[in-house]
Amino acid sequence: MTVRSKLMVGNWKMHGSLAANAFLLSDLLSGMGGVNCLAAVCVPATHLAQAQSLLVGSALALGAQDVSAHESGAYTGEVSAAMLRDFEVRYVIVGHSERRQLHGETDIVVAHKAQRALAAGITPIVCVGESLSEHESGQTEAVVKRQLAAVIHSNGHCISEIVVAYEPVWAIGTGLTATPEQAQGVHGVLRAQLQAATAQADRVSILYGGSMNAANAADLLAQPDVDGGLIGGASLKATDFLSMLKAASR
Ligand code: PGA
Repeated sequence: MTVRSKLMVGNWKMHGSLAANAFLLSDLLSGMGGVNCLAAVCVPATHLAQAQSLLVGSALALGAQDVSAHESGAYTGEVSAAMLRDFEVRYVIVGHSERRQLHGETDIVVAHKAQRALAAGITPIVCVGESLSEHESGQTEAVVKRQLAAVIHSNGHCISEIVVAYEPVWAIGTGLTATPEQAQGVHGVLRAQLQAATAQADRVSILYGGSMNAANAADLLAQPDVDGGLIGGASLKATDFLSMLKAASR
């Protein structure tokens, strides 16, 4: 029996301002009636304090977009898991493809970030996904399995506490979306990999991300192993994000 509630997570990336956030969060909070899925927004680190105070007591959880692989120390510019915890952060994205591609994050760094988050009581949202060339050369399964294997290897039995997000790189911010069948195919592979690692694999939510929007969310969410979404662009528009939360609440 499936024990997973749908989880919808907005990834604001490097967007927003104190003024814009106040409007967006207030619009979101006032439209949450009828939403019964789990929901969160991952805001820039500089906006955690504001979002924490606006979201307190609400059904919208707070998330961050990255965390240091180190516990503390001389790491200029880094933010530790304990620092995120001070702001009551529930989720943190680790290994987003933009960090892997633009900031050189390796599978092992991503695994350590997940470990730091778990040790601080924060749920890491571990992103995996293949590039366009890997997709076209039939390497999707091998790539996502390699990325997830590093996290499984470093986190042992805690692996049932993570969230996984399958985000095909070719679908992020491009308007191209995996078909529901393509997404389910990869989610099924990831589920089987988790099952081989833990008896609790059915507890792990596997989100889809990559141009998910108000028009395609319901079909993606109808797949048995698509347990929610990690949503970039469409999470910055209150009406779109709310309609996706409602699609996940059916
Ligand atoms: P997108 O981004 O929804 O804008 O494609 C998703 C993500 O990068 O998490």
